[in-house]
Amino acid sequence: CGGKTEPAGNNQAGGSTPAPQAKEYVVGTDAAYAPFESVNDKKEIVGFDIELLQAIADKGGFKVTFKNTPWDGIFETLKNGDRDILISAITITDKRKADMDFSEKYFEAQQLIALPQSSTVKSLDELKDKKIGVQTGTTGDEIVSEKFGKTNPNIVRFDTTPLALKELENGGLAAVVADNGVVNNYVKNNAPKNLKFIEDNKSFEKEYYGIAVKKGNKELLDKINAGFKKVKEDGTYDKLVEKYFGK
Ligand code: ARG
Repeated sequence: CGGKTEPAGNNQAGGSTPAPQAKEYVVGTDAAYAPFESVNDKKEIVGFDIELLQAIADKGGFKVTFKNTPWDGIFETLKNGDRDILISAITITDKRKADMDFSEKYFEAQQLIALPQSSTVKSLDELKDKKIGVQTGTTGDEIVSEKFGKTNPNIVRFDTTPLALKELENGGLAAVVADNGVVNNYVKNNAPKNLKFIEDNKSFEKEYYGIAVKKGNKELLDKINAGFKKVKEDGTYDKLVEKYFGK
């Protein structure tokens, strides 16, 4: 063989001089939210958000490494610098915009009400005095809290949305309010024969997901938006939508 050897470069791990390579950003995601982000059998973080941000990074000329990060407290990790980027099916809201900066919106969503098959409930209003499950600190939690009172004991908060849905399946709740994508996916994959879901367009407005960075990190936000533009233009975005949400 050619016996080609690598030169003893100083770019290898352990060297103190940083190699002239793309900057690597740490990304936080609450990977209990299929099909947007979840952990597979091989313990890898996978999903629509993951592939989308990876494609954006490839096109935008930067690197990303994903870290599973609990939703409760996830926004703090941007503030304290533990994470540079968050992609986690995060709805862009005015309140959140005061604390962090968001990319262009990348996905449209809406709350759904998941119910036992036998339920006669037709709207959010009818859930008054009934036990409602939400994931702590999500837009679903915010809407339900606003409507029925933040300290209302009928609002049951869970660390993840699948845990809330599981409790509903087990008969411990009257309803769960959560993003349509994750509810649809749960119903599809877990085949809970006893669950159904309804929309309530009067109570729930359209929501839009964005990628978050620390407030004022314009340099990174510009890179993300530039990469996103390319990913949309070259068809990658559409392919991912088809892969994860196509019929
Ligand atoms: N879109 C909702 C929100 O922003 C829920 C997102 C939860 N995401 C997650 N990966 N757990 O509040």
